[in-house]
Amino acid sequence: MKSVLLIIGGGIAAYKALELIRLLKGKGIGVKTIMSKAAEEFVTPLSVASLSGEKVHQALFNLTDELEMGHIELSRAADLLVVAPATADLLAKMASGLANDLASTALLATDKPVLVAPAMNVRMWHHPATQRNIAQLQADGIRFVGPNAGEMACGEFGLGRMAEPSEIVAAIEAQLAPGQKPLAGKHVLITAGPTREPIDPVRYISNHSSGKQGYAIAEAAIALGAQVTLVSGPVSLPIPPGVGLMPVTTAQDMLKAVEGALPADIAIFTAAVADWRVAAVAGEKIKKQADGSAPSLSFAENPDILRTIATRKSGRPKLVVGFAAETEKVIAHAQAKLARKGCDIIVANDVSAGKGVFGGDSNTVHVVSASGVEDWPPLSKAEVARRLMEKLAGML
Ligand code: PMT
Repeated sequence: MKSVLLIIGGGIAAYKALELIRLLKGKGIGVKTIMSKAAEEFVTPLSVASLSGEKVHQALFNLTDELEMGHIELSRAADLLVVAPATADLLAKMASGLANDLASTALLATDKPVLVAPAMNVRMWHHPATQRNIAQLQADGIRFVGPNAGEMACGEFGLGRMAEPSEIVAAIEAQLAPGQKPLAGKHVLITAGPTREPIDPVRYISNHSSGKQGYAIAEAAIALGAQVTLVSGPVSLPIPPGVGLMPVTTAQDMLKAVEGALPADIAIFTAAVADWRVAAVAGEKIKKQADGSAPSLSFAENPDILRTIATRKSGRPKLVVGFAAETEKVIAHAQAKLARKGCDIIVANDVSAGKGVFGGDSNTVHVVSASGVEDWPPLSKAEVARRLMEKLAGML
């Protein structure tokens, strides 16, 4: 049986640790716990012991504990250490290698992977000291789940809410045995890249999408054990191993391929689909006019693939996620798209000139859903993909 050592830090989000223990036990994962002194102000050791079915470890110098299981052994007996909630104080201790209580000592003494679920006030999260500590911990190989954005217990709004227990469980499962991957047996359908709408046999209308964000999502879904179908417009990227690729050219082709690939558990639309196509594509190359006049093109509206799938009466994927490429009023436009297209989540990104999102390797996204807006920090497209897939796995 896989097991985790859950270290509960002292923050209001500590109450969510109880639900986390319940979910982990339900999945057959053993849970030993350490509670910091401050955590005991928020939840009682009795509740934690009752749910985990195990003794709660509290003090660094405890003779009985040391006779039964020393703190070094405790830190190495589990397959994974999970810190939830990880307070600013605990992250600072970890980043500087302090070991002045049982939680920090176990974290310093362990030889096992560590996953942290930060939770703190938004200003504490954005403070340069915290950001320095996070960068250090990431460089040390510590994995993060969350934080999310939203309303906080202190009344402020922003990044700093602990990830939901279901999201933490998905991240834990991703870290534990590969056989227990959270999306095993699930079909994830992804669109990526641009579409090309022909004008004549040699010319077309398209956009700057490179497909990098969509392909990164396909790789992240594979890593979580999903069966992945990637419906891709013309790009020059290698096919991610294990992905079922359906290459397409136009928006109409893309819709046909997406409908043909259903049913799916999750559908994610990262493709930059042309909203219009040329109404009458010329059969031959359009020639320059002798009088120097430019040809005039008339356009027809393309099908909205995302909206078509999200509003299906039957066979709608359980989770439908759209992306929104915006150049102004990013959140407001994304919220309008969420309602208009009928999807569950819109991942909004600012694609204004100079942001380098189209074709670049990083992205700053805002995850918009009925429950609010999460502002994610600037991340590589691979990290956006990993966090998004872990979030969706937790929601499924
Ligand atoms: O490919 P990269 O270079 O890595 O760049 C990534 C990206 C910027 C393309 C990506 O992050 C992104 O934002 N994709 C969505 C681009 C887009 O077309 O946004 P939109 O706001 O026009 O469309 C909203 C949503 O509807 C998108 O999910 C889109 O796939 C979908 N759509 C749009 C029009 C249409 N006819 N059918 C659709 O399905």
